Amino acid sequence: MPEELVTRARDALENAYVPYSEYSVGAALRTADGEVYVGCNIENANYSNSLHAEEVAVAEAVKNGHTAFERVAVTSGAKDGVTPCGMCRQTLAEFADESLVVVCDEGGEETTEYALGELLPDTISLDTLNAAAAAREGE
Ligand code: THU
Ligand code: ZN
Repeated sequence: MPEELVTRARDALENAYVPYSEYSVGAALRTADGEVYVGCNIENANYSNSLHAEEVAVAEAVKNGHTAFERVAVTSGAKDGVTPCGMCRQTLAEFADESLVVVCDEGGEETTEYALGELLPDTISLDTLNAAAAAREGE
């Protein structure tokens, strides 16, 4: 049996709206206080408005008041061990540190786990902007 978060991501991908790519993605994230929020990709005829599964899951969590994440599972209909794209890595980094566990589902029992810090070793953050503001004030 795959872990619950992977099962929730697989369930979420059933609702993916992917008439263009036909590549469905599901994501499930666990917040620091143990809630689970899920998302699927939602494509658009103008292509650029397409929402990624991880973005949708993050939006669901944040709109419900959860801004600290500890684990996220990602899966695709292709069962190819999809990892979050660069944009989604940065989106996740806003609400987690480099120890966030990213579980990538290869279908069946196979998963590969990464730390977010491996997938995105450098990131712009609130700290970056605060440090720049402090430096400006010190000028
Ligand atoms: N996709 C995601 O949902 N998450 C990712 O991080 C990778 C890409 C979606 C976007 C598009 O609907 C489809 O996968 C093909 O790129
Ligand atoms: Zn993405």
